[in-house]
Amino acid sequence: MSVTVRVPAKVNVQLGVGAARPDGFHDLANVFLAVGLHDEVTVTPADELRVTCSGPDAAQVPLDRTNLAARAALALAERRGIEPTVHIHIAKDIPVAGGMAGGSADGAGALVACDALWGTGATRAELLDICAELGSDVPFSLVGGAALGTGRGEKLTPLEVGGTFHWVFAMAERGLSTPAVFREFDRLTEGHDIPAPEADPSLLTALAKGDPEALAAALTNDLQPAALSLYPELAATLRTGERAGALAALVSGSGPTTAFLVRDADSANHIAATLRTSGTCRVVRTASGPVPGATVVSAGQRRSMPVRSTPIG
Ligand code: C5P
Repeated sequence: MSVTVRVPAKVNVQLGVGAARPDGFHDLANVFLAVGLHDEVTVTPADELRVTCSGPDAAQVPLDRTNLAARAALALAERRGIEPTVHIHIAKDIPVAGGMAGGSADGAGALVACDALWGTGATRAELLDICAELGSDVPFSLVGGAALGTGRGEKLTPLEVGGTFHWVFAMAERGLSTPAVFREFDRLTEGHDIPAPEADPSLLTALAKGDPEALAAALTNDLQPAALSLYPELAATLRTGERAGALAALVSGSGPTTAFLVRDADSANHIAATLRTSGTCRVVRTASGPVPGATVVSAGQRRSMPVRSTPIG
């Protein structure tokens, strides 16, 4: 018996960042949109907790207890008094360290998969609690769609979306660490008066109407100057997509993935082709959203998999 859960990546259409709090986190007004790039997390009963990963970026994924999928299994098992003896396999398609919540997706995916495998009967609220303990973006990976995240991003209000938005994503040569980007934000804003972040009403209206032009005019990311300061080459990628006809270009979350909002699927393919030959990024993908959050896609016989495998003692 094994359970497979499909979990989407996210793009932040607004990332409003407040001043650092006493706990080091920042209050956010974080408008998430789930987009159709997915990881699949499969859990299978095993003698011990083990994580494996496949996919083009698999070598960059930690397979120890720092992996959010392992932490999710351990957190649920501990709450329910269950031995966390599962093999977690991550089929990774979301870029690693890319600002698209790939690690968070794996945490939410493993949690939903273990919950189904073990039949814990945990409520949605309890699962969301565990997600919030695992990381600020993990609850959104569970719920998907579109949502406003407040607090450190973990308190979610679902948002209405009136259509499908088309995107192109350009993955950068190297990753950026989220804490490092927030530290750079603190450095760049030192001595400034930072207002409390608030969701932009015009952006919420654009989402509700499904209007890409209006959404393009409202996209903002307060972490973008910090990401560009740490990774100045991203400016050339943003410019390339804009010149190719994107409605808007921005850094996705803490970066370094760059996101291009486009008019339709044809435009996405054209802009993706231009970015691919530009030499300003590593990999280019197209995706649209909103899409659903973590979803069980199969619960059945074990599939053959493994690639890299280390037991977690
Ligand atoms: O919550 P998560 O573990 O994903 O956060 C990773 C890091 O990002 C935190 O340790 C912190 O440095 C930074 N962060 C922040 N404010 C937030 C969310 C994350 O400063 N609201």
